[in-house]
Amino acid sequence: MKFFGRLAAVMATLISNIKQLVNVRSSWSLLRRAELAKLPCINNAYLIVEGETIASYGKMEELKFNPSTFQDHLDATGKLVLPSWCDSHTHLVFAGSREHEFRDKIQGVSYADIAAKGGGILNSVKKLNDTSEDELFNQSYKRLEEVIRLGTGAIEIKSGYGLTIEGEIKMLRVIKRLKATSKISIKATFLGAHAFPAEYKADHDAYIDLIINKMLPQIGAEGLADYIDVFCESGFFSPKQMEQVCLAGRRYGLKPKLHVNQLNSIGGIQKGIELDAVSLDHLETMTDEDVQALAGSPNTIGTLLPTAAFFLRMDYQPARKLIDAGCAIALASDFNPGSSPSGNMNFVAALSCIQMRMLPEEAINAATINGAYAMELQDEIGSISIGKKANLIVTKEVPSLTFLPYSFGSNLIERVMLSGEWVS
Ligand code: NIG
Ligand code: FE
Repeated sequence: MKFFGRLAAVMATLISNIKQLVNVRSSWSLLRRAELAKLPCINNAYLIVEGETIASYGKMEELKFNPSTFQDHLDATGKLVLPSWCDSHTHLVFAGSREHEFRDKIQGVSYADIAAKGGGILNSVKKLNDTSEDELFNQSYKRLEEVIRLGTGAIEIKSGYGLTIEGEIKMLRVIKRLKATSKISIKATFLGAHAFPAEYKADHDAYIDLIINKMLPQIGAEGLADYIDVFCESGFFSPKQMEQVCLAGRRYGLKPKLHVNQLNSIGGIQKGIELDAVSLDHLETMTDEDVQALAGSPNTIGTLLPTAAFFLRMDYQPARKLIDAGCAIALASDFNPGSSPSGNMNFVAALSCIQMRMLPEEAINAATINGAYAMELQDEIGSISIGKKANLIVTKEVPSLTFLPYSFGSNLIERVMLSGEWVS
């Protein structure tokens, strides 16, 4: 082992007596069907972190070093250690909140009605364009710190509340600053095609032209995004318009990660697969043909966002049907002010078990290793593997792994580590 004999000189952390070390893998692949329910664990384990990465692990009886020789030692008796959550779909950068719409929704107004009346996303767009970059950064940084404490160790964040050149660039620059400021792994997605701004209500082609010929060149030149997204939905962008935007994004190296089949099934799945999307996200409304198409795609992941269905009182994503058909699925929070004002991945996992009948093992795999694949970070994060980033969750004392989603709403996280450092 690399650190042997020079412990005093290196930053090494030992976590000992771990009741269960969860999702331990020496090799990994995108999990489907029965594989999704297999969660490799080691009982009564130790884990050693050196610098930013996982250096070794094993059964306690195989630990060759005296715990007192470690610079940092945590006795995790009765506790579990998991890889951090990989939240592959969020809109964490936004200005203010929309709790007045929440009141309207309680009284029966639907998400689509609010949007049709010029509220919803366009409400957040107005707030965002009225907020300075520094203020937007401060608000977003607080949310990021909150989800880190809730166990998220990798996150995708979208633009999409600017819908002007300045607003979209402002959002993406804030994401870039978050990347530079925080230890969490971040991927940035350009979602200029989130809604048509009011000024382009009568001329959708002109807005698409703005995205393709004005926004994308600047985003490409500044290297501000990793992916491109489109809200493909009735009343928003058609599959054809999604294709136009995605093909333009390709020219700047942006792969598609797309919003499809939230409210309607209009061909977004088939078009997304044709565009070789990394992931197709939401999937509340899936026909049998949509499920079959996704199951037949070798690379495209279906990302389920159950807290959005929960918050909007919609039918949940058909997780069992998707898993049984052979789709590769991931779970994410969709953290945003309109349909999921929470980035709590512990609740996402619990809801997936409670309402979508996923097994706890399936939910944990879908929210860690498969979520990492949905951000193309699978070789860095998403499992307990030697050489991967030490982004970890240490739970409080719990009776079992199943207790985590079972006790939904309780905070069972005792501490988290990002890149080898405990988050205070
Ligand atoms: O993923 N549906 C589209 N976009 C977001 C919601 C955005 C909003 O309402 O602010 C979503 O649910
Ligand atoms: Fe979303």
